[in-house]
Amino acid sequence: ARVHHYKWDVEYMFWSPDCEERVVMGINGQFPGPTIRAHVGDIIHVDLTNKLGTEGVVIHWHGIRQLNTPWADGTASISQCPINPGQTFAYRFVVDKVGTYFYHGHYGMQRSAGLYGSLIVELPKGQNEPFHYDGEFNLLLSDWWHQSVHEQEVGLNSKPMRWIGEPQTLLINGRGQYNCSLMPNFGNSSSTQCKFKGNEQCAPQLLSVVPNKTYRVRLASTTALASLNIAIGNHKMIVVEADGNYVQPFEVENLDIYSGESYSVLINTNQNPNQNYWISIGVRGRQPKTPPALSLLHYKGVSAKELPTNSPPITPVWNDYNHSKSFTKKIFSLMGSPTPPNRFDRQLVFLNTQNKIDGHIKWSINNISFVFPPTPFLGSVKFGLKHAFDQKSPPEDYPRDYDIMNQAPNPNTTTGSGVYKIEYNTTVDIILQNANALNANTSEIHPWHLHGHDFWVLGYGEGKFTKEDEAKFNLKNPPLRNTAVIFPYGWTALRFVADNPGAWAFHCHIEPHLHMGMGVVLSLAVDRVKGIPSDALSCGLTAKMFLKKKYLP
Ligand code: C2O
Ligand code: CU
Repeated sequence: ARVHHYKWDVEYMFWSPDCEERVVMGINGQFPGPTIRAHVGDIIHVDLTNKLGTEGVVIHWHGIRQLNTPWADGTASISQCPINPGQTFAYRFVVDKVGTYFYHGHYGMQRSAGLYGSLIVELPKGQNEPFHYDGEFNLLLSDWWHQSVHEQEVGLNSKPMRWIGEPQTLLINGRGQYNCSLMPNFGNSSSTQCKFKGNEQCAPQLLSVVPNKTYRVRLASTTALASLNIAIGNHKMIVVEADGNYVQPFEVENLDIYSGESYSVLINTNQNPNQNYWISIGVRGRQPKTPPALSLLHYKGVSAKELPTNSPPITPVWNDYNHSKSFTKKIFSLMGSPTPPNRFDRQLVFLNTQNKIDGHIKWSINNISFVFPPTPFLGSVKFGLKHAFDQKSPPEDYPRDYDIMNQAPNPNTTTGSGVYKIEYNTTVDIILQNANALNANTSEIHPWHLHGHDFWVLGYGEGKFTKEDEAKFNLKNPPLRNTAVIFPYGWTALRFVADNPGAWAFHCHIEPHLHMGMGVVLSLAVDRVKGIPSDALSCGLTAKMFLKKKYLP
């Protein structure tokens, strides 16, 4: 196995992701951060230096399970302390599984500030993927606001809350166009034609192809908020990978991707080679106020400046949930993939609600809105620091008479920092139950992401989950994933084998939702975790423990 050694500086810098200059969080002067490419079994070693000046930072390696290195998961308050300005933390971990992944900040709302990049793991040399392709592209998708994340954060915490609103621009590999469009007057924009010299930070990245070849397009979404849909004019896509797991190939004309998810699709460049084709990415699940992101599938031989003859594909209507569900329900694991145990040892039912605390708007799970404690759970659980977090475990279910279809009679909730203690090597089912939000007739999409494990998605359903629904679980070929969505007023059933000791976050991947409390922490056989670097725990009560003395001599 190779060791890939990187030295990264995280810093604020001026950048024009959508042709308007703002401040972004970059790495080594780049936005998005550098792409990591490695082979299965390689070691990634990143010496991360915080050059932000006034705030801490951590980086989470989304989709990497961190087997035997739970302290390298990069979640502030859970797996480590934020790295202080000027200090360096060494992330060292094995990439044990092939697939399309990414990394991002996991402290406050730093992901929305632009702290992200791609992480691609290839098969060991000599091994072949179960599908053929001649070339590949990598598209990291994100959404972008002109307001700074600090302003957004203050807005979310304020009373009355100032919601961040819809993004100004969608970015493909950190590039989008705000004040102009590649295709003027398309979507809900009334902008003029973009003129690029080609070296602008916001110039679109074209996908240049030759005719009659197969290309793999890797897609990953690190959006703060937006659910997206991608389509390529005239070209069908064959879905082959989801979250680093092979799926039974199936063909689509467009594909939904939620924050935290990744896919690989294959396209065949078998269309008329004398023209270019639009790639269009639009917003789903929320009323779109953001124009679609555009790029070109550019057939070499045609000028890259030549615009397609047809107009860009139109994103399905934002609230056409049947379209979303029908896509999601087509995803099955590739034959020969691991199948889940037939039964669970423990079932956790998580009711997702929007609530109020003293007039502030929050999100809760089983009526507890999560707050991040100052001491990382990995240390406080390991060393039994009883004052570091709520000792009472949070509820495993919600009152059965709760009406998920309507507004709660009393939307008030409380904050909490308790953990779900999970026994080693047990099979755990999690039922995510959606409900009505604060407003009448409103229920939102939430993409839930688990750290440290993949889970099988056993099924989706409408309304309230009941015991009888268990009989309908797909135990034959459920997809393995690390992120799964719950649809409005519906439920999603997940199963995983708790075989990776550590303190793991499980949360909605919509950044403001997590910020408003939409997450839980699982503490899993932390007593088995050995060799935590003290650097990871040099804050809160663990720091005090290391120092022992109250006053220094
Ligand atoms: Cu990609 Cu906990 O997040
Ligand atoms: Cu959410």
